[in-house]
Amino acid sequence: MECWCLSKRKPWLYWLLMIHTHMVVWKIQGDCIEEERKALLEIKDSFIKLYNSKMDNFLPTWVDYGGDCCEWERVNCNATTGHVTDLSFYYLRGMIGDNMEFGSKLWPLNVSLFLHFKELTSLNLSYDYLDEEIMKTELERLSSLKKLEVLDLSGNRDIDNDILPSLKTLTSLKVLDLSHTSLNGNFPTNGYKCIFFVFLFPN
Ligand SMILES: *[C@@H]1O[C@H](CO)[C@@H](O)[C@H](O)[C@H]1NC(C)=O
Ligand SMILES: *[C@@H]1O[C@H](CO)[C@@H](O)[C@H](O)[C@H]1NC(C)=O
Ligand SMILES: *[C@@H]1O[C@H](CO)[C@@H](O)[C@H](O)[C@H]1NC(C)=O
Repeated sequence: MECWCLSKRKPWLYWLLMIHTHMVVWKIQGDCIEEERKALLEIKDSFIKLYNSKMDNFLPTWVDYGGDCCEWERVNCNATTGHVTDLSFYYLRGMIGDNMEFGSKLWPLNVSLFLHFKELTSLNLSYDYLDEEIMKTELERLSSLKKLEVLDLSGNRDIDNDILPSLKTLTSLKVLDLSHTSLNGNFPTNGYKCIFFVFLFPN
């Protein structure tokens, strides 16, 4: 009723309120970088395509309509810049009730999608059934993320020594977890400039 009166008698006030409301909505959506929001949804989609079932409990906060992706589960942003800084995909299968029928189906993750997150400092891909064939060639793309300091690849059994050349290009890394993978032998420390902590092979 209040609104009806306003629009009837003081149309300018009504329009002012409308404009104000639109600005508020714009600002809320503006809190999360659109390019990053789209990339997150693409990553979610690629996982859904792979398993193609039982998706109700899978990243339920990651939705396509509006909203601030900085508020989504497993995502952290820098409060000042609004850019995504931390992403955790830790054991995504666990969210859809991991079971035997999934077997060792590998996730053909498009590594280039992470290049949309220019401020990314930490990426957790632990226990995600990553595909060695993709990782050994694509992982080096992450080298253009100059702020990437933490990379967790632990628990990906398909990954072996073939990823080492690609890893060598990730010079901003400070923490690299390769435990519970199929890497073996000694970790070649030559050429791995800024890696301070490497967790290896406690299989
Ligand atoms: C957020 O980004 C600003 C600008 O790049 C930076 O100065 C600040 O340290 C960042 N905050 C955190 C918590 O990383
Ligand atoms: C992988 O992601 C990049 C960056 O978003 C995109 O340009 C490319 O088309 C994607 N590749 C595939 C095979 O989907
Ligand atoms: C990755 O996520 C798991 C589960 O939250 C956590 O235990 C692990 O420490 C994370 N890895 C890193 C390097 O922070």
